[in-house]
Amino acid sequence: MTVYNFSAGPAALPGEVLERVRDELLDWNHDGMSVMEVSHRGAAFMRAAEEAEADLRELLAVPAGYRVLFLQGGASAQFSLVPMNLSAPGATADYVDTGHWSSKAIREAARYCRVNVVAGSGPDYLTVPAADRIRASAGAAYLHYTPNETIGGVEFPYVPDSGSVPLVADMSSTILSRPIDVARFGLIYAGAQKNIGPAGLVVVLVREDLIGHARADTPTVFDYAAVAAQGSMLNTPPTFAWYVAGLVFKWLKARGGLAAMAARNREKAERLYAAIDASSLYRNAVAPEARSWMNVTFRLARSELDGEFLRLANAAGLRNLKGHKAAGGMRASIYNSMPVEGVATLIEFMREFERAHG
Ligand SMILES: Cc1ncc(COP(=O)(O)O)c(C=O)c1O
Repeated sequence: MTVYNFSAGPAALPGEVLERVRDELLDWNHDGMSVMEVSHRGAAFMRAAEEAEADLRELLAVPAGYRVLFLQGGASAQFSLVPMNLSAPGATADYVDTGHWSSKAIREAARYCRVNVVAGSGPDYLTVPAADRIRASAGAAYLHYTPNETIGGVEFPYVPDSGSVPLVADMSSTILSRPIDVARFGLIYAGAQKNIGPAGLVVVLVREDLIGHARADTPTVFDYAAVAAQGSMLNTPPTFAWYVAGLVFKWLKARGGLAAMAARNREKAERLYAAIDASSLYRNAVAPEARSWMNVTFRLARSELDGEFLRLANAAGLRNLKGHKAAGGMRASIYNSMPVEGVATLIEFMREFERAHG
């Protein structure tokens, strides 16, 4: 039985990448040792790390003038590190509140700066604010938003215009799902465990002029300028996660890069939403223009069937469809590594379940 893993994160990795990891686990680089056992400062690992950065830059078409950092602490650490690095004490930072993760970022930032929530879509968080409602305030250190809310399944169909205020994005659950214009952003951060690689790694892309202004009490290992100056090797980096991320970047390049990914991701999402909309048992309440390509949430009209749905799905090899506990219902996370056949199998299962129980 083929197993399809719809986990929101840590999420499925491409099978080909896992096979390569397995094949070279005990003997990486023909050196008789695992990649986990060698120095991050050795020539072999340095080469792999540099290649990973170069491939990521190529995939995202990162323009000159941006630093790419490989950090630790999860995306949640960035909720604090962004204000610590980008805002002076007493400064104001703008935030857009579109759900669970942006709310968390806001709460954490409020410990460091004056947070100004310039727009939001609460309390239901079933859409995103219209583009013309997002206006950065004069003098704000940055404007932060969450392009894809992983729990609610709500995604911005546009990039907000923050004028001359640097735009900061938590792209944890949407990075690499489609091409983006990096030049629109001052800083992008993303936890790795969805579209990049294993948990433990966070990627930060930051415009050079924004680094070097960290507060005096910022831990050195989290000062973007200090990390950048040392090529993200100021201390021991999460080498295994970095190596696997590099393999994922090569996998993406071999499959046509982000334009090809976008076409596939759009197709997967459209097919799944169409199946949900055509059914009387399943319902997705997110505004159609703000529906996530990566996290498709849905509820059963008869919630007493939730347990049976999950039990039968699991038995059919369709794993981790339970929605986040904060949201309930179901969630199918269909990141880059989810093949179209996985989505087709899920749709067929849902139709069959509705025929039997609807
Ligand atoms: C959009 C978003 N931001 C932040 C996080 C937190 O990530 P971490 O657990 O790596 O701190 C998540 C986790 O799922 C997320 O989806």
